[in-house]
Amino acid sequence: MAEFRLPPNSRIDRDGKVHEAPAGATNVRAFKVYRYDPDGGGNPRVDTYKVDMDDCGPMVLDALIKIKNEVDPSLSFRRSCREGICGSCAMNIDGANTLACTMSCADVKADVKIHPLPHMPVVKDLVTDLTQFYAQYASVKPWLQSRTPAQPDRERLQSPEDQEKIDRPSACILCACCSTSCPSYWWNGDRYLGPAALLAAYRWIVDSRDDATGERLDALQDPFRLYRCHTIMNCTEACPKDLNPAKAIAEVKKMMVEREHL
Ligand code: SF4
Ligand code: SF4
Ligand code: FES
Repeated sequence: MAEFRLPPNSRIDRDGKVHEAPAGATNVRAFKVYRYDPDGGGNPRVDTYKVDMDDCGPMVLDALIKIKNEVDPSLSFRRSCREGICGSCAMNIDGANTLACTMSCADVKADVKIHPLPHMPVVKDLVTDLTQFYAQYASVKPWLQSRTPAQPDRERLQSPEDQEKIDRPSACILCACCSTSCPSYWWNGDRYLGPAALLAAYRWIVDSRDDATGERLDALQDPFRLYRCHTIMNCTEACPKDLNPAKAIAEVKKMMVEREHL
């Protein structure tokens, strides 16, 4: 898999500190965790934490929390819900982007290798800077734009068929697993919106209550924002919620063509 974005002239020291398991532990797994503090100087390194799995929960996030609480409080990572809902524990585990809270340690065969989301600036250890990712999401105006005044006594209703169109795209938890697995996003992340933001754009374009479809498509009519997607499909494979951003992007491209022929 591709290398992570590192400071110039740096390399990963793969033989960082080793933290042994407690004496007497018989069911031990090694967690090899990326460590980097841009403010502290020095190169990134990979530390090894040997964890007694008989005294640890089953998920990778359980092991990280145990390591932080009992072995090394300096380790930094994001987490909140531990239910696959908030998207904050997204990281690269065993070479694939996923959620640490829904990834079972038992599903990793050898040592559990944990890195930050690829090609993102690292704030510290497993915490990446998602400022640009969120700005791209905001840029697609992910809210209802309707020219019809809301009725005071009822919601804006949809048919079940229309609701079905937005049901799955609305389940996106903005974890960034898709965008940070996309080669086009790695190389053009400053100008290509990436699959997460484009899935959100699609979700509002197909919403039957929204009146800004034309403006939304106009905003994507650009050589980079939409068309840097080359249908590589990494995004759909990476999504821990089983969503299909690649298909959504293809649908938007199709709508672009169709409206040109209207
Ligand atoms: S399908 Fe498009 S968005 Fe998804 S990984 Fe490929 S290039 Fe990126
Ligand atoms: S589409 Fe999937 S992988 Fe991408 S941000 Fe949403 S939930 Fe995460
Ligand atoms: S902690 Fe919320 S998705 Fe993992």
